[in-house]
Amino acid sequence: MDVAEVARITEETIEKYQKYVNPTQVALLKVGGFDKIEWEGCGAVLRDAEGGEYIDCLGGFGIFALGHAHPRVVEAVVAQARRLPLSSKTFLNKPLADLAELLARVSPGDLQYTFMCNSGAEAVEGALKVARMATGRPNIVAAVGGYHGKTLGALSVSGREMYRAPFQPLLPGVAHVPYGDAGRLAEAIDDQTAAVILEPVQGENGIRVPPDDYLPAARRLCDERGALLILDEVQTGLGRTGKLFAAEHWNVAPDIMTLAKALGGGVVPAGAFLGTPAIWDRVFRENPFIHSSTFGGGEMACVAALTALQVTIEEDLPAQAAAKGATLLAGLQQIRSRYPDLLVEARGKGLMIGVEFADADVAKLVIGSLVHHGVIAAYTLNNPTVIRFEPPLILTDAQIDHVLHAFDRAMAETQEMLAEFLEG
Ligand SMILES: Cc1ncc(COP(=O)(O)O)c(C=O)c1O
Repeated sequence: MDVAEVARITEETIEKYQKYVNPTQVALLKVGGFDKIEWEGCGAVLRDAEGGEYIDCLGGFGIFALGHAHPRVVEAVVAQARRLPLSSKTFLNKPLADLAELLARVSPGDLQYTFMCNSGAEAVEGALKVARMATGRPNIVAAVGGYHGKTLGALSVSGREMYRAPFQPLLPGVAHVPYGDAGRLAEAIDDQTAAVILEPVQGENGIRVPPDDYLPAARRLCDERGALLILDEVQTGLGRTGKLFAAEHWNVAPDIMTLAKALGGGVVPAGAFLGTPAIWDRVFRENPFIHSSTFGGGEMACVAALTALQVTIEEDLPAQAAAKGATLLAGLQQIRSRYPDLLVEARGKGLMIGVEFADADVAKLVIGSLVHHGVIAAYTLNNPTVIRFEPPLILTDAQIDHVLHAFDRAMAETQEMLAEFLEG
């Protein structure tokens, strides 16, 4: 495409966003320098229609563990799409059975059964329903700052008031306790608690890794009080934190686990929740359709998830995430030490890394500057003082260097800009 053609289709697309999609969103994209058309992706690199190249450290909020358009996933999906993309919902679905078997084999503890859906929020909705039915109890304990999605049930257990307030009343019987505090968790669980829902590492609250005794304590408290433990691995799952599932860092096995994001291999939307035989028996024995989804478990999504999981295991992407994450985090910490007034901390696990700023507006300036240096990053939804780095797990060493160099320059430019502003 020539320059004039790119300019024309960009302008046209902006106008359509303004008229038909979301005018405020497009205004925000303009401010951040993101008012370009995303055109193609390959591995960790995203290209815009003008030919600009970016290392994708937002990764679609963590879906591109395998990078953009992973060839094995794309091939498997295209072949399936030509033959039978979606399920008739009448006969047996082989890709679903194969995927469920592999998930059972690699998931922690007793997790054996899989229900396929289409997104993270949908997986959380299913998990909450199943927990209520399996225990016969109504209440849920969740964490302050937690993020589980924006449908009504998932929002009810999420913990940022800004997103909750306009939609009240949400689900009754939800208590929010400070994340990482086992004592407060103990006070909140009682004989009416169906489940405790936690992220093993909080993502949208600014990449918060809990104290080492937290998840084991949550497991013990749930067992003692007859509540179920739901671990939401939508963001942490499938290698991101350096283990296939983040719960493995603490040897904790949940009763229910939710997955989405990377599950579809970065090619097809896919979500899932897994449960133990005891739970499935209580929920699905009498009526296998007590919870269902028209699109969930379609052949194309299952083939994408199965191939993505096979690639993740064969290429040991969790180990790659651990090693590359350590390098990236060390580099970010080194840069942080040179900007003690602007940067509070760099933290994370594997390739789920957050850099906390003293001020959310400064974080926004740095995000804008990073894009000019060919790196896409964004702040976390429940905590705008934190920029998250969640690049594809297949990131190369040279790309890590590029990201660190870009961050260093973005920090220097932002500091200069702030100094000029204060002087002026
Ligand atoms: C931990 C967690 N759970 C659930 C969700 C919701 O997923 P989705 O946006 O696919 O509904 C997210 C999304 O960021 C998430 O991070």
